[in-house]
Amino acid sequence: MPRRLQALLALLPPARSVADVGAGHGALALHLAARHVARVIATEAAPGPYQELRRNLDAWGATQMVEARLGNGLAPLERGEVEGVVAAGMGARSLLKICADAADRDVAWVALQCVQDPELIEPWRKRHGWQTLASCPVHERGHQYLVWLLKVAR
Ligand SMILES: C[S@@+](CC[C@H](N)C(=O)[O-])C[C@H]1O[C@@H](n2cnc3c(N)ncnc32)[C@H](O)[C@@H]1O
Repeated sequence: MPRRLQALLALLPPARSVADVGAGHGALALHLAARHVARVIATEAAPGPYQELRRNLDAWGATQMVEARLGNGLAPLERGEVEGVVAAGMGARSLLKICADAADRDVAWVALQCVQDPELIEPWRKRHGWQTLASCPVHERGHQYLVWLLKVAR
């Protein structure tokens, strides 16, 4: 797994249910399941990446460990279905749209890895009264990425 995803994984609190939103290849979701998160849901917004996600989970023998769902943001999740959400490899605007629906879905925490416009995250967090539980920079292939674990305000 890339360092940016390893760093995100290291921030996560223990949880019984987590959604990886915009899971892409699905490696982070697989690692979550391997860390004994009992229920892992991996979502993808577009049919192409969703098919790739399903193919990978199938190839890894992980279809019983990770449930793949097609849909935008948190739309594929029922209210109260997961304790936490991870979202990685996206720009801040996409990440913050996901965050905006988190309270409505009864999500307790959100872990983010941002690839574009990271400066947008902190003002949004403050404006919405969310608490930063952990945050750190990650260096990978000449880039610096930021990762956050945020507590959703209710
Ligand atoms: C660059 S990939 C990152 C994949 C993986 N999370 C990672 O960090 O390596 C971004 C993925 O997020 C998906 N995506 C973007 N916006 C999304 C949204 N609003 N809801 C669900 N998936 C989304 C894209 O289809 C794409 O597969």
